[in-house]
Amino acid sequence: MPIRPIVRYPDPRLKQVCRPIAPHELPSLRRLVNDMAETMFAANGAGLAAIQIGEPLRLFIVDAEIAGRAATDPPLTFINPEIEALGNAKELAEEGCLSFPGIYVPIERALRCRGRALDLDGQPFEMEGEALFARAMQHENDHLNGRLLADYVGRLKRKMIERRLERGEDEDI
Ligand code: NI
Repeated sequence: MPIRPIVRYPDPRLKQVCRPIAPHELPSLRRLVNDMAETMFAANGAGLAAIQIGEPLRLFIVDAEIAGRAATDPPLTFINPEIEALGNAKELAEEGCLSFPGIYVPIERALRCRGRALDLDGQPFEMEGEALFARAMQHENDHLNGRLLADYVGRLKRKMIERRLERGEDEDI
């Protein structure tokens, strides 16, 4: 279960729309999800999308504790997810991303949302979350559509983020 390199902004791979996973591909996903979990834990992340380790699939994981489970539980796996806002309440909070080390961007998200997806056995499930969990589902789902932290800021701040990540300033943090 190797830790895999995390694709960092502005790598163009992060901008692609990821493809749905076919039922026959499910058995081959366990290894990938194990790699994603190892990689997320090693980087202290709250969630990780497959594209962040270079696999353009509609798949993400969310840390169990963020999802209200025991910290020792395995991450929740969302395959071909659909995320839908519940109600009109919004919350503004600083958000980070493992593909943007050291960068935090204030983003307004739905306070509550519902996620529908398949699990690793191909079984459909549905979860509702709020606050940090809802934010994590919305953030990871954005990755599947090539939407990134940099898309929530103006042009000048985006340039600043690009310069900072290209210089690798985060390596010093
Ligand atoms: Ni992210």
